[in-house]
Amino acid sequence: MNIGVFDSGIGGLTVLEELIRELPHCNFFFYGDNKNNPYGDKSDEELIRITSGVVDELNKKGCRMIVIACGTATTRCMDRLQELYPDNIFIGTVPAVKTACEKDFRNIMVMATTATITSAKLREIIDENIREGQNIYPVACPGLADAIEANDEKAIGRILNRIRRDYRDKNIDAIVLGCTHYPFIKDEIQKKFPKAVLMDSARGVARAVSRQLRENGLMVDEKEKGTLEVTFTRKKAA
Ligand code: DGL
Repeated sequence: MNIGVFDSGIGGLTVLEELIRELPHCNFFFYGDNKNNPYGDKSDEELIRITSGVVDELNKKGCRMIVIACGTATTRCMDRLQELYPDNIFIGTVPAVKTACEKDFRNIMVMATTATITSAKLREIIDENIREGQNIYPVACPGLADAIEANDEKAIGRILNRIRRDYRDKNIDAIVLGCTHYPFIKDEIQKKFPKAVLMDSARGVARAVSRQLRENGLMVDEKEKGTLEVTFTRKKAA
């Protein structure tokens, strides 16, 4: 079974790691679309054009199932992609708001790109899951995925300091990492909010993929050993 996995860059690797752990017998094709990053400040039209190009590439590799290992592309264009490519099975990465709400945290911060934070999809997920007495604080983090991609520690520190300053008084007890780049800086985020439990979506996505494979009769021989092919696109030199 060939499974395509894509993101605007390295963030998707945090999801891929869990996928390989859960499904070591599958063949994964990872596509890191650095040429077009960041996704988080693009319009829906641009995102659909860009991600359609990625889906075309993954289809050339025979990937019927495609994991959108990106919060931005999931919340902004997964439904449209499914309409455009009805023969593909898409699994997205939505911020783990449902899990945070179910665990009865009181003050939940959701960190994500501007595109995810302002999406109707996130609003819908919050409205569906929020319980009485819970507060959910959606926090846009422009530049953070870029800074992680560039391993720019100063910029990461600056952005996190701003967030800590703005939310210091809110007694945050859970932080949902709504962008797949953010698990790479879990330790830094934890230092700024030592009492908060950090939650990402990778494990849930891996389980959802496994479930879908079984439901669609696509699960391959579990004794086989899977393969991995990784592609990163690059921006043209200026
Ligand atoms: N990793 C992505 C996400 O989960 C996108 C980051 C970006 O390119 O802005 O939202």
